[in-house]
Amino acid sequence: MEKRQQLYAGKAKSVYHTSDPERMILHFRDDTSAFDGERMESLARKGMVNNKFNAFIMQKLEAAGIPTHFDGLFSDTECVVKKLEMIPVECVVRNIAAGSLVRRLGVEEGIELNPPTFELFLKNDAQHDPMINESLAESFGWATPEQLAEMKRLTFRVNDVLKALFADGGLLLVDYKLEFGLFDGEIVLGDEFSPDGCRLWDAKTREKLDKDRFRQGLGGVIEAYEEVGRRIGVDFG
Ligand code: TMP
Repeated sequence: MEKRQQLYAGKAKSVYHTSDPERMILHFRDDTSAFDGERMESLARKGMVNNKFNAFIMQKLEAAGIPTHFDGLFSDTECVVKKLEMIPVECVVRNIAAGSLVRRLGVEEGIELNPPTFELFLKNDAQHDPMINESLAESFGWATPEQLAEMKRLTFRVNDVLKALFADGGLLLVDYKLEFGLFDGEIVLGDEFSPDGCRLWDAKTREKLDKDRFRQGLGGVIEAYEEVGRRIGVDFG
């Protein structure tokens, strides 16, 4: 398969056409964004680390029966994916209170959420990814009730698989965001799963080992991503 022209450049990844109309190449760049693109920085090795991290996780999810767009690695910083028709809705599950939930509700960071929560956000940087609900998604035609039900079911399945995987590495999966798309009418997990789109804390010390290190200016961002990867068995080569 050949890489062809660029279709789209997002904040941290670029998407390319390929010689196969049903496949795309995702290029993980070193660019790091926070606050909907307000803060941008290039962090050495991030593209490679997130590409290999994402490949590892997507393969674990596929093995657990969750359909994903991931096909295989293409290079150190690129992978081949199925071409999805993306649904502009972000699905967030939280096991522990942090981030926007803490700001919105004034609850204490770190409290356990039992059962885990499920939230929907509209993928729209200009509006700062506003929180939405199923009624809004249906009325505006972003997703059908059936698609939303399947996205919710799969997002919780991902929680079962990944909470256990990270727990084995001495890590707490605090929260995460997933994006889905359609491939031949089927809901398939798209985008990426990396420490850019989730929160991971050391289970003992509760040290933050995810993109909050960048958002909060704590330093050691990529070192933390590599540490998490090493603990769960990612091979960075
Ligand atoms: P939040 O606390 O900012 O709502 O984010 C919850 C989780 O989802 C956190 O792990 C970060 C991730 N997330 C993104 O990666 N991108 C987004 O646009 C949003 C809304 C959340």
